[in-house]
Amino acid sequence: GKDVISVKQFSKEELHLLFTVAAEMRLGVERDGCLDTLKGRVLCLMFFEPSTRTSSSFDAAIKRLGGQTLMINEAHSSTQKGESLADTIRTLDQYGDAIVLRHPDNDSAGRAAKAAHGPIINAGNGSREHPTQGLLDLFTMREELGTVNGLTITFVGDLKYGRTVHSLVELLRHYNVQIQLASPAALSIPSKVRASMQSRGQLAIESDRLTPEMIAKTDVLYVTRLQKERFEDPSLYEEVKDTFVVDGKTLKDAKANMIVMHPLPRNLELSEEVDDDPRAAYFRQMRYGMFVRMALLALVMAP
Ligand code: CP
Repeated sequence: GKDVISVKQFSKEELHLLFTVAAEMRLGVERDGCLDTLKGRVLCLMFFEPSTRTSSSFDAAIKRLGGQTLMINEAHSSTQKGESLADTIRTLDQYGDAIVLRHPDNDSAGRAAKAAHGPIINAGNGSREHPTQGLLDLFTMREELGTVNGLTITFVGDLKYGRTVHSLVELLRHYNVQIQLASPAALSIPSKVRASMQSRGQLAIESDRLTPEMIAKTDVLYVTRLQKERFEDPSLYEEVKDTFVVDGKTLKDAKANMIVMHPLPRNLELSEEVDDDPRAAYFRQMRYGMFVRMALLALVMAP
């Protein structure tokens, strides 16, 4: 099928095709504003967790391709009467041509794909994956730095619950990169993800501090939010909330042509004083996300 559940399903050739189409979408939008690639098609958006970027960029993506959106508001849906995820999916499957789903359960996207006939696109399943974010992160590196191969990528913050990190690290298996990790010990990367990086010889250093030496080597500084809502122990947040803050001082000795990325939303970990630095790529990253989602929808929903 054409479900997008995990980044694991993408081959290097499929990534290249996606990014080629995304670059074409960028040109198309910059030239014409809207295209008619998916005219008459309907995309269902089901967000069972809060979202600003993912929901609105999928909405923008289908509309810029000439299609329309059907949006379910969970708080006002029959989920409140106890309807199962599978039945909710079966319902929307009758009305639209594809479903974008964000849900707090790690196995939700897989369950949804079993229930639906049409394509399911995973927009975040618990702390497991956020595949379209990983794809847009790679596209951002390509567009900003020319190529992903040869880069040193430093992940900072909550590497345990940050699903965007898990998806991006998995995609980086296709590239020749060095990875540096900095997180509080209690929020270090899951052992399976670490083992996969190690087996590929990609893990350069893992630290409970973001050191100046790590910053000096960095081409992409990937900052993440503490996923407070997923912490098992709420007191942990108070303990770590002021650590791993990236600000102007952090970037003082960073390379001139490095970039700072963040999936957003942010809290305290990324100071607004970085926003005016040309190396701050996180707002541009959002726009690249729309082009990648346009490309993905065009490939998944084309009649
Ligand atoms: N990056 C991201 O997934 O943002 P939202 O949670 O706002 O969709």
